[in-house]
Amino acid sequence: MNTKERAQWGSKIGFILATAGSAIGLGNIWKFPGKAYAGGGGAYLVIYLAIVILIGIPMMLSEISLGRHAQKNTIGAFHSINPKYSWIGWIAVFTPFAILGYYSQVGGWVTSYIFSYITEPDAVMADGLGYFYNFLGYDAATGATHFPWKAILFGAAFAILTAYIIIKGVKDGIEKFNKIAMPLLLVILVVMLIRCCSLPGASDGLSYMLTCDWSKVDSGTLMSALGQAFFSLSVGMSILVTYGSYVGKDDNINRGTFMIAGLDTGVAFLAGFIIVPAVFATLGAEEVGKGGGFAFASLAGVFKAMPLGSVWGFMFYLLLFFAALSSCISVLEGIVSFVCEEWKFTRTKAAIIITAICYVFGVLYTITQASVSMQLPWADFTGITMTPVCDWMECLTDRILIPLTALAECIFIGWIWGTHHIKDEVTTGGVTKFSWYPVYRILIKFLCPIAIGAIIIYSFATGTTVS
Ligand code: PHE
Repeated sequence: MNTKERAQWGSKIGFILATAGSAIGLGNIWKFPGKAYAGGGGAYLVIYLAIVILIGIPMMLSEISLGRHAQKNTIGAFHSINPKYSWIGWIAVFTPFAILGYYSQVGGWVTSYIFSYITEPDAVMADGLGYFYNFLGYDAATGATHFPWKAILFGAAFAILTAYIIIKGVKDGIEKFNKIAMPLLLVILVVMLIRCCSLPGASDGLSYMLTCDWSKVDSGTLMSALGQAFFSLSVGMSILVTYGSYVGKDDNINRGTFMIAGLDTGVAFLAGFIIVPAVFATLGAEEVGKGGGFAFASLAGVFKAMPLGSVWGFMFYLLLFFAALSSCISVLEGIVSFVCEEWKFTRTKAAIIITAICYVFGVLYTITQASVSMQLPWADFTGITMTPVCDWMECLTDRILIPLTALAECIFIGWIWGTHHIKDEVTTGGVTKFSWYPVYRILIKFLCPIAIGAIIIYSFATGTTVS
């Protein structure tokens, strides 16, 4: 397929909003605040920012440039540059395939919670944890289990919505959706920020987030911030290469990358300034980020303690909904672009088939949360542990696929293909400025591979997931 036939973003801002939409996701809003709290508030923010600048931005710029250079899907891109390395593209495309199923299920849970806060807010807020367990098919009071129909059906609705936007196309689907969703998301965030920071008692949380408590920082904090930055910036999963391939040759991708990373980090920080103060003011500091179901279970207690709690709960899940959907469409696009270009499927056929296959894995993810016991062996340096299927899926993507793709990419760009190709692409042959190229080159050749290698070893040595 030649360049002219390929889809392109309709505008510069379209590319930025769509890519920011991919980056801004569940990770920013519900994972980041808990991690920032555990990592010493302000101290974590400083570390995270440094990682985004030194490692995240060079990786993002590399992926976007590679995509625009090749004008192809991720596998096609690696293949066209050096067929010996198309395997990097294959793992890169397999990663979103492994993520799509569970990410869209969680999107479905979020959607269901929007309705719960409209139809039965008192039930959710009275017993946040019990309600969440019950939603996932487990009755905490009796210990009985049931099939989590509601979660699975909402998961289906979310998956269909994602596929629908993808079928509409790059410009009329992805770009159009993000141009509406991203500004809306920002407005909701700001409104929530004002409300949460003005709750009585919130100032303690706010000052916690603005003070650097370095005593809480250790090697684990660094690793978790690194993993978080990767997941959050959508690095290492074929998405940025694909989205980059739709960028016009006259766009300044250097500036675009900084804007996208800035938006993503800004939203994560805002979420931290919303959730930490709100939890401090209502449930008490020690509840921040507690447990896997924090966003569903603990936050119900926060809304219960706030005046007009059901309205704030509704707004919060609406916010999560936009964040999850804009990320989920990027995950699907990362696979659809490949299937359409290399296997010549139509967009509609590709989107439907991939959605259907991944949905099956997604259902497994939801049912193994609490209602069905199904385990797979997971091996790391701490030994072999039988792990519930849902956790196993996250281990596979977060501990192996994402860091491995990212590592392979920076070794490929830094040591095999050569960073001068990235320079040519970013400057469009010397036209656009790329004044920090000498720094970029060192970061991509040395710092990035070392840091990513460290994440892989650390997570296997300690048996913890770092994203
Ligand atoms: N970056 C998204 C987040 O922070 C996650 C994501 C994962 C996006 C996979 C795309 C693909 O939640």
